[in-house]
Amino acid sequence: MPNSNRFDTLKMMAGTEKPSRRDFMKFCGTMAAFIGMGPAFAPKVAHALAGKKRPSVIYMHGAECTGCTEALLRAYQPYFDEIIMNTISLDYCETVMASAGQAAHAALEKAMKNPEGYVCVIEGGIPTYHGGEYGKVGGETMFQLFARVAAKANATIAMGSCACFGGIQAAAPNPSGAKGTNDALKAVGVNAINIAGCPPNPMNFVGTVVHLLTKGMPELDAWNRPKMFYGDTVHDHCPRQEHFNRGEFAPDFESEEAKKGWCLYQLGCKGPYTYNNCPTSLFNEVNWPVQAGAPCIGCSEPNFWDDYSPFFHPIEDGPES
Ligand code: SF4
Ligand code: F3S
Repeated sequence: MPNSNRFDTLKMMAGTEKPSRRDFMKFCGTMAAFIGMGPAFAPKVAHALAGKKRPSVIYMHGAECTGCTEALLRAYQPYFDEIIMNTISLDYCETVMASAGQAAHAALEKAMKNPEGYVCVIEGGIPTYHGGEYGKVGGETMFQLFARVAAKANATIAMGSCACFGGIQAAAPNPSGAKGTNDALKAVGVNAINIAGCPPNPMNFVGTVVHLLTKGMPELDAWNRPKMFYGDTVHDHCPRQEHFNRGEFAPDFESEEAKKGWCLYQLGCKGPYTYNNCPTSLFNEVNWPVQAGAPCIGCSEPNFWDDYSPFFHPIEDGPES
């Protein structure tokens, strides 16, 4: 974020300056377009977001690297502070909240008693072996805590591939028995929306929240990912696809062919097997892996850490799953 914008943002967060109506409507227009609606839908987004009651969000951290939160903190258009100020009331999030210990725990219990209910966001896998003792928060196992919070939520969102499918800590031999949210918590009736990716594009998370507020539950694919963001493969919209179609494959990363934008399939690209909107959405409107010269490793797919490795080798017959 440029310094001037950061300063403006801090002023807004300090309560000395509010986002202008123009900025707010621009945000709503961006969101309307992103969830697949035309500009005419922007006032409806504005109406839903301008209500006095922003939805309470409880954001929990499991077994993970916190990379999804890092991506969200760097969200651009909207900035993360705009998300908080305009879209949600972030009532519990261990990474960004000022309080800690007993005070943080009290904030969680208070948020859970909100009469309007709350949205539960889970980031990270859930250890399940040996009673879940490989991951604890405030004396409770992650498994117990997440089950308690998610079971009462109005909606649950699994943020990132660890929360969706178990993630890197679930890689064979998976010593902690890490599982994704729906796999671990289906017994308590949880059916989370999966925002897959390692990390996911923050816009996929924000767009899902806005969709829930304006149009309700988005249409999901077989892995519970919103079809509006995960309906096409990375390969479908890749700018290197014309080279794929001509059989023009870069032989190594330093080659002239790689620099000329030839296809990275022979260098391990899993774009043909991976459903995500990276080529069309970009990260922070700047870049995405294949454009930066790296093959897609399939980070939004279940079990990619085992099924798609070694990452820099092609899978001739496609992944097992
Ligand atoms: Fe498909 Fe990957 Fe080649 Fe792009 S670089 S055309 S996604 S195989
Ligand atoms: Fe992940 Fe492939 Fe996109 S590695 S970020 S799904 S290009």
